Amino acid sequence: MKLIEAKDYHEMSKLAAEIILKQVKEKEDSVLGLATGGTVLGTYQELIHDFKKNKTSYDHIQTFNLDEYAGLKKEDPNSYHTYMKINLFDNIYIPVEQTHLPNGEASDLEEQCSAFERIIEASGGIDLQLLGIGQNGHIGFNEPGSSFDSKTHVVTLAESTRKANSCYFASNEEVPARAVTMGISTIMKSKKILLLASGTQKASIIYDLFHSEVTNAIPATIIRKHADTTIIADQDALSKLNQAKRYA
Ligand code: F6R
Repeated sequence: MKLIEAKDYHEMSKLAAEIILKQVKEKEDSVLGLATGGTVLGTYQELIHDFKKNKTSYDHIQTFNLDEYAGLKKEDPNSYHTYMKINLFDNIYIPVEQTHLPNGEASDLEEQCSAFERIIEASGGIDLQLLGIGQNGHIGFNEPGSSFDSKTHVVTLAESTRKANSCYFASNEEVPARAVTMGISTIMKSKKILLLASGTQKASIIYDLFHSEVTNAIPATIIRKHADTTIIADQDALSKLNQAKRYA
């Protein structure tokens, strides 16, 4: 696992965008795995900034998002469809039919999960998967206890995850109880993994990511088994890890 230490959120975002842009430029039909949330927002802003300046082409890029809430309409302001449209897709002019998110409003969610897997496979597989990390170690919405063999599936969100995400909703109760997420085995099939972490609220989980055994009690630990994983974390997220190093 390669660890890149960034000074702060801004530097983390710039470094992450550089890695994504390198991928996009080296392979113009790259398949990107994308995430939502606060951590990756700055990275998307950097990609938009680059697009305005350099007109990097996304004409042949395909994207697959990790997850979507179950029961929210695509147009809902809190859906991940809306998040991606506003925070990235509409600003880099990627053809909408090349962007894929699980459909959380499908009547048959199980079939929707299988279909999502089939489209990923038909695309040739994900070249670079961008990940954030939950304070409980979730990746995508694979909560503690998720099977490492899981493919795209429906999950019940941990209460701590609903609470962490409630800042985007009018109240705690409005955060959907379920979501559709790419599975851990789907994530692990990506050719490269890029995980970002920022802020003191991630310091404990970043410490665990390096020091815990690989266990599905902390789903993110599985990425230690991937042959090409890069982590970019800022000083706040690294504070516990670096403190432990100083006293070692
Ligand atoms: C979202 C996702 C989640 C987030 C994680 C961190 O698509 O897959 O695993 O990456 O919950 O969220 P933030 O970045 O908001 O702390």
